[in-house]
Amino acid sequence: MQATSLLSANTQYFLDLEENHGAHNYHPLPVVIKKASGVYFHDVDDKRYYDFLSGYSAVNQGHCHPAIIDALVQQAQTLTLTSRAFYNDQLGEYEKFITGYFGYDKVLPMNTGVEAVETALKLSRKWGYEVKGIEADKAKIVVCKQNFHGRTLGVISYSTDPTATNNYGPFLAGFESIPFNDIPALKTALQDNNVAAFLFEPIQGEAGVVVPDNGYYAGVRALCNTYNVLMVADEIQSGLCRTGTVLACDAEDVRPDILILGKALSGGVLPVSAVLADDEIMLTIQPGEHGSTYGGNPLACKVAIAALKVLKDEKMAENAATMGEFFRSELKNLESPFIETIRGRGLLNAIVIKHSDPEAAWTLCMELKENGLLAKPTHGDKIRFAPPLIITKEQISECVQIIAKSLEVLQKG
Ligand SMILES: Cc1ncc(COP(=O)(O)O)c(C=O)c1O
Repeated sequence: MQATSLLSANTQYFLDLEENHGAHNYHPLPVVIKKASGVYFHDVDDKRYYDFLSGYSAVNQGHCHPAIIDALVQQAQTLTLTSRAFYNDQLGEYEKFITGYFGYDKVLPMNTGVEAVETALKLSRKWGYEVKGIEADKAKIVVCKQNFHGRTLGVISYSTDPTATNNYGPFLAGFESIPFNDIPALKTALQDNNVAAFLFEPIQGEAGVVVPDNGYYAGVRALCNTYNVLMVADEIQSGLCRTGTVLACDAEDVRPDILILGKALSGGVLPVSAVLADDEIMLTIQPGEHGSTYGGNPLACKVAIAALKVLKDEKMAENAATMGEFFRSELKNLESPFIETIRGRGLLNAIVIKHSDPEAAWTLCMELKENGLLAKPTHGDKIRFAPPLIITKEQISECVQIIAKSLEVLQKG
């Protein structure tokens, strides 16, 4: 079983450049993108593909959305960075906008997702000591097994994935891992008075789009209330309309105490992340205690406002919900013996491949590429399907046909 594709000299040239001059910390599919628009990528040989990854859900609004690019270009020609040593005329407007949008007192702006997670951990510990009254250096944060919250040392300290942790120790103390989607385990963990926070992904994206049972978010909220523990939701991948509601937690009308956003906060244009919380939590951090040179820069602020407006103006949550249902039901109708599971919510979906060859998911992604659709395996046998949220029904139908045709490659093994 092999999805054979001869790479053009053009493609090979760019692959060689990265191989020879870049760190080998990724294993990309052998395709070289040179431009993108809406739901499409174009490679260096001018072949067009559907993008079914959306930059790991950073490009929810579609590639190069005109309103976001307009905001970027205008602001780039006016003012890009002041640092936080001075005020600028964009940050306050953005802070007012985003706190109003999500209903929190305050926002702390950062850049990448992992920095926002680190910020939320620091905030949780501060709150634990200064508001909850946890004894010095005893604060604990409860997390979930199979989590993915980024790649810094602090964040991998509580990863359960050996690929993320192997030979990077020693790790940060103060974390306890429990199974995801397990309310009794959470109840047991929260009995400890030193627990400041429970950090979780409402849907575990990197683990292969693991959706918890209905009622999980409400159960987490209730336990956090009972035990005076902060509910910290990492909505970096699940948020911003991806799962059919603005936030994944909205599916159960649950409001986390700390909300972490990133990725689509800039529509795939710049690294922009944010941590939102109310004053009791956010104001525990004092001037000089935390920050970032680029965090809250005027360019990011302007772009983020545009990116958030586009999500609402173009009803992307609604489209994600409808198209997601349609996509999953069309996939089911294929009745492929090679698809063990189809799961997801909105347009955050994954299939689990059933095949004797452990490389089958990779082979299928290579064949999808040949047939004009780009997706990437996660954890060996799973493939995430997460197109931009502007995708239409006709486009989904075409993509399902591409998937059906590509699955034939697995029959040859
Ligand atoms: C849930 C979640 N948290 C955090 C991160 C880290 O974000 P970044 O890669 O921007 O640091 C990711 C990235 O995939 C993610 O999916």
